[in-house]
Amino acid sequence: MSSHPTITDEMLRAALGGVIDPEIRKPITELGMVETADVDADGHASATILLTVAGCPMKDTLTTDTKKALLGIDGVTDATVTLGVMSEEQRANLRTQLRGGQAEREIPFAKPGSLTRVYAVASGKGGVGKSSVTANLAAALAAQGLKVGVVDADIYGFSIPRMLGVTHPPTQVDDMILPPIAQEVKVISIGMFVPGNQPVVWRGPMLHRALQQFLADVFWGDLDVLLLDLPPGTGDVAISIAQLIPNSELLVVTTPQQAAAEVAERAGSIAVQTHQRVVGVIENMSWLELPDGSRQEIFGAGGGQAVAESLTRTIGAEVPLLGQIPLDTALRIGADAGNPVVTADPDSPAAVALRGIARGLAQRSRGLAGRSLGLSPSGR
Ligand SMILES: Nc1ncnc2c1ncn2[C@@H]1O[C@H](COP(=O)(O)OP(=O)(O)O)[C@@H](O)[C@H]1O
Ligand SMILES: [Mg+2]
Repeated sequence: MSSHPTITDEMLRAALGGVIDPEIRKPITELGMVETADVDADGHASATILLTVAGCPMKDTLTTDTKKALLGIDGVTDATVTLGVMSEEQRANLRTQLRGGQAEREIPFAKPGSLTRVYAVASGKGGVGKSSVTANLAAALAAQGLKVGVVDADIYGFSIPRMLGVTHPPTQVDDMILPPIAQEVKVISIGMFVPGNQPVVWRGPMLHRALQQFLADVFWGDLDVLLLDLPPGTGDVAISIAQLIPNSELLVVTTPQQAAAEVAERAGSIAVQTHQRVVGVIENMSWLELPDGSRQEIFGAGGGQAVAESLTRTIGAEVPLLGQIPLDTALRIGADAGNPVVTADPDSPAAVALRGIARGLAQRSRGLAGRSLGLSPSGR
């Protein structure tokens, strides 16, 4: 309670309402995180902030932001921030609130009214650049202002966290997982739950459960777009995704090479069985731009177009070639540094192509940005 002559409790609350929890991305006042807030007659402000869990990786940011907010109030001379931890009951309330009043776990994207577009990125074989495409499309869409999430569902070859530069693990609030955010993208990967660099040997049912958990227990908030980096081929994960999120759509990545195109067709035609829509084909490693401006077609030509035409025939609906991404050292450097080329080097040939594809996808999503999905009572 304020005992200051001019600073009211409302002013304290309004100032603290400007502090956004770095993981949940909502004001701390709406999350029940402000336990006390005072200011004494001399203008000394103090607040006790409750962390969701002890050892929350974001506690320094929270402390700094809260202090700054208090010091921003006219008349406050200094500020002290004390950290506490939520009780089990407070955490349970928060989880229920974040789930929009629903206590039980469900996959928000599978609900009939969901406005999130879910794209599963598939390829016939590994090494064609599926993860690079996923990471860069995610970063490009986020840079356009969309709310984006990525699930690295490539259990055996997870690489998305590194490509996006994720630096800290998810925070677990009992059975709710707060995903780390990198490049303004919420990222969750099986790799985050495997200690060290151990190989993962999981069978179908375990994979299915892990995916179910990623999708239901992670707090995604209101996403415009969710991208899933699938393992190569037509395996269990692709089928699980189709079952868990029936309205998910496929993006097929291939190289220009004929052999790669044939397996990519198989990965795409799984959509016939799963009744998923194929949004289109992305050809990667299409050519290398030489200093004189000419193009060297290292892996041949025509693979992307061939896959698009063949899928159009198999599926009986137009499957376009969405774009061709050249080979580009900048893309590889960006991936290794955790700095996607679309934002790190936006004028490089690969970035230009990737941003073009992202623009096309964003247009399909137009009208969703900024609209609440009704997942949380407080909206955004
Ligand atoms: N257009 C490109 N130009 C240069 N290097 C690329 C390009 N696309 C992918 N790479 C590189 O090729 C390798 C395989 O890409 P990755 O995205 O991991 O493939 P996948 O996920 O299909 O296995 C990575 O080292 C990546 O940096
Ligand atoms: Mg990969």
